Amino acid sequence: MSERVSIHGMWSSRLAFVLAAAGSAIGLGNIWKFPYITGENGGGAFVLVYLLCVAVVGLPVMMSEILIGRRGRESPINTMHHLVAEAQRPRLWVLLGWSGVVAGILIMSYYSVIAGWAMAYVFKTASGTLTGQTAEGIASIFGGFVASPEKLLAWHTIFMVMNTIVVSRGVRSGLEQAVRFMMPALLVLLLVMVGYAYNTPSFERGLEFLFTPDFSKISTGGVLTAMGHAFFTLSLGMGAIMMYGSYLPKGTSIAATSIAIALMDTLVALLAGMAIFPLVFANNLVPSAGPGLIFQTLPIAFGHMPYGSLFGSLFFILLVFAAWTSGISLIEPAVAWLVENRSMSRVKAATGVGILTWFVGIATVLSFSEWAFSFNFFGEMKSSGVFDVLDILTANFMLPLGGLAMAVFASRCMSRASVVDELDMGDGILFRAWYVLTRHVTPVAVGIVFLHGLGIVQPVIEFVRGLF
Ligand code: PFF
Repeated sequence: MSERVSIHGMWSSRLAFVLAAAGSAIGLGNIWKFPYITGENGGGAFVLVYLLCVAVVGLPVMMSEILIGRRGRESPINTMHHLVAEAQRPRLWVLLGWSGVVAGILIMSYYSVIAGWAMAYVFKTASGTLTGQTAEGIASIFGGFVASPEKLLAWHTIFMVMNTIVVSRGVRSGLEQAVRFMMPALLVLLLVMVGYAYNTPSFERGLEFLFTPDFSKISTGGVLTAMGHAFFTLSLGMGAIMMYGSYLPKGTSIAATSIAIALMDTLVALLAGMAIFPLVFANNLVPSAGPGLIFQTLPIAFGHMPYGSLFGSLFFILLVFAAWTSGISLIEPAVAWLVENRSMSRVKAATGVGILTWFVGIATVLSFSEWAFSFNFFGEMKSSGVFDVLDILTANFMLPLGGLAMAVFASRCMSRASVVDELDMGDGILFRAWYVLTRHVTPVAVGIVFLHGLGIVQPVIEFVRGLF
């Protein structure tokens, strides 16, 4: 039997898939979000929970998501239609595809605004505006910038157009080309930044903050955020990786590629943390500065190092590219669905999704000025209104629930034979590890974190602590 292929095209090689999936995974989540939520949640303990979630929950979910995508070969909604019919399961499962499409648009709506900040900072660093400024000066420039909705809107618009164009061009000429050169370059520049941080007197303090767990510092909300971030950073739970899996030719090892993607993603996040926290401490800044953290710390380093404006602008250019290769994967599922179901051309579908997402993004544009409001998320004050709401709703709830559903669907609803066939690693120990993890560990782990969120686990922990 000849292999089924996607109507949207296929990756040209295994490397193309790995690069595209890594391009989706590595983005603002690693360099902008990971440091700031680590800072807000007290450091080491948060990092440890996040790493555990990546290894124990993220990896098996990623394998499930890719295998579902490759078996269905269509957008997440239609893929679920197929697989539900194949496995004769309730149609309710198709909701999983829908929730992914909605989550993708919601995430992209704010992701694009933050990517816009990075674009603005390409010019701010290149022009020397930030050179020679004190830490307070740099913080106040950032504050002034985000309080200006017109500027944010302009950059948000540019980023949305960039993404719409790439997605319009389709799998090979659009998505593949975008990722080839940028990822390695970003890695090199991050290493340069860590090298700079290494030479500050606070390097050790930065590492200690990142890697010494102090469980008294992590709140209930922090545990939920750490798990949510494991999904967010690996692009799991909404169908982006499912979509990319649907373009993957047979014969590529899903396990090996998933491990490679997760390792690269984690490396980039940890390097970003190692570059940023020493600077935070060296300049007497607070780690809990929130979403502005990297925009208020890295420019200090660029302002003092030789060729700082050059390195600074290069760094933000690469960050924009990293965001770009993630952004396209956020809207790809919606676009593919429109092409499949409404017989639209790719260009029309991408434009429609782009415009819708742009509109939703206006709420985030205003979140740092006119529409800013504060609220308490499990004891943690959030002050960026709709942006925080969208971020918490998608990353902390929709993605973990979506990922959990995918793991359960792959391991409990699809036939064992079709799963063994897709994973293509035999029926041995590796397969069994995946099977146990997705059938039992993922549901329990996600369940515990949610119960923890509801305040049920904390008393048990206190009780166990009391015993020792
Ligand atoms: N993983 C991306 C990042 O870390 O920036 C964000 C993301 C992309 C999340 C695609 C979810 C997704 F489906």
